[in-house]
Amino acid sequence: MSTRPEIQKLREMREKAKLGGGPEAIKKQHAKGKLTARERIELLLDPGTFVEIDMFVTHRATEFGMDKRKALGDGVVTGFGKVNGRKVFVIAQDFTFMGGSLGEMHAAKIVKTLKTALSVGAPVIFLNDSGGARIQEGVDSLKGYGEVFYMNVMASGVIPQIAAIMGPCAGGAVYSPALMDFIVMVKKTSFMYITGPRVVKAAIGEEVDHFQLGGAEVHATKSGMAHFIAEDDKHAIEIIKKLLSYLPSNNMEDPPRIPTGDDPERRDYELDNIVPEDPNKPYNMYDIINRVVDKDTFFEVHALWARNAIVGFARLNGYTVGIVANNPAYMAGVLDIDSSDKIARFVRFCDAFNIPIITFVDVPGYLPGTRQEHGGIIRHGAKVLYAYSEATVPKLTVIVRKAYGGAYIAMASRHLGADYVVAWPTAEIAVMGPEGAAEIIFRKELEKAKTPEERQELLNKLAKEYRDKLANPYVAASRGYVDDVIEPNETRPKLIKALELLLTKREVRIRVPPKKHGNMPV
Ligand code: HXC
Repeated sequence: MSTRPEIQKLREMREKAKLGGGPEAIKKQHAKGKLTARERIELLLDPGTFVEIDMFVTHRATEFGMDKRKALGDGVVTGFGKVNGRKVFVIAQDFTFMGGSLGEMHAAKIVKTLKTALSVGAPVIFLNDSGGARIQEGVDSLKGYGEVFYMNVMASGVIPQIAAIMGPCAGGAVYSPALMDFIVMVKKTSFMYITGPRVVKAAIGEEVDHFQLGGAEVHATKSGMAHFIAEDDKHAIEIIKKLLSYLPSNNMEDPPRIPTGDDPERRDYELDNIVPEDPNKPYNMYDIINRVVDKDTFFEVHALWARNAIVGFARLNGYTVGIVANNPAYMAGVLDIDSSDKIARFVRFCDAFNIPIITFVDVPGYLPGTRQEHGGIIRHGAKVLYAYSEATVPKLTVIVRKAYGGAYIAMASRHLGADYVVAWPTAEIAVMGPEGAAEIIFRKELEKAKTPEERQELLNKLAKEYRDKLANPYVAASRGYVDDVIEPNETRPKLIKALELLLTKREVRIRVPPKKHGNMPV
């Protein structure tokens, strides 16, 4: 070990930098059930791979006593390393120095990391734990946020961006995670909101605490901001690592193929009996997904929000796929405002990152009513049409049961460019449900019924007639709208064969004159 004084000084500075806001602040951080920025990085990265950048950066502010308040690193640890052998960049805010607040130089470090990640083509993991704009630095911190947002947008669709919220994330700070691809929130210690409880009370008189306003559960179930919730910091990091295992490092790469040992020819005969004979009875769509994809590989995203739709990643013969499904066990699997947003966002992510999409359809339609109409179901529902039409990755569709009306078109139908569409014999593909259809087509006949019982009996008979004639897969198959009607047990081998065929799919959409970007309804 060298004893040269210059080298000794460097070592001392490094040790000091590692303490962030100091031992007392670290103790406080631990007492809140939170890890420090460096402890989080250590959990995230493969041992010995972390290379820190900008450890010696400090702020340049002088007002409000800031000239005497400095810490090496300025409240954020940045650099790169490896997760399961693959390059990633990491940004970890250090709450122990000035509450991880973001000033000019703190922001400059984040921006530099995002720029480098973008040029190298590696994912960015942003571990948020911050009181927001550093109040003492005024407009310089706003400039800092603006530049971070700009870089988040530049990186969008090029490298995966994953945010974990592991403490406060307030004010403008929320918009960096919001511009990224996935958000993991830690229960009990994290919250996200535009304005905190005090401002809420002053502005509209509402009494609410941090967690009721923007805690992990709230964002996972109500707003849809959180894609995942974690029990603690360690769990959040595990979720991030698992998520990364499905993703390519950038949009020029294919996702990694990880063989799972599950036989691609495996047929599952239980599938033949999952859909109940009564078309109005629910069943477990997760059961279908899990039996078709490689065993134990389905990884759900947005599990607690808009549960009438299911989205997530899985592997099929080792290849990453995006799964989209209606969930008949929740609101009959109907498409509404939130489930449309959930599906559209997921489809666009998959398309940006070369992930083929498998859609399992059982949808009775779009949800009717004033709440939905006034909330803009037309605008939100249109996003599903837009996202599927825009997507050029392989699109494979399995129509399990109901596929009615506009929702049939929206759920990855052939008409929106699906590459391989199969239906189970239980599929009902039609303009609307048989009862509704019979009510309209046979209104006059039904009016003639003398008693309500007689009317119901007649309706059942006419609905059955409609179902037998039109609400089945064979009309669509006769037109070639579905490529095949298959036995449920053959779904896995059929999908794998089609997927492997489609892996070389290239759909280049050249337009003259070139278009800058479309105008997706938002
Ligand atoms: C400067 C800050 C700070 C901030 C916290 N600190 N937030 N310093 N700017 N924004 C400091 C505290 O003064 C304290 O310093 C230390 O960090 C730890 O904070 P505590 O309050 O002791 O911690 P805790 O009790 O856990 O509360 C955390 C908190 C609270 C809920 C985040 O600190 C808080 O409400 N902070 C202000 C949040 C806020 O209003 N931010 C601005 C949002 S506006 P000492 O010296 O005591 O250790 C915004 C606009 C940006 O962000 C717009 C961009 C587009």
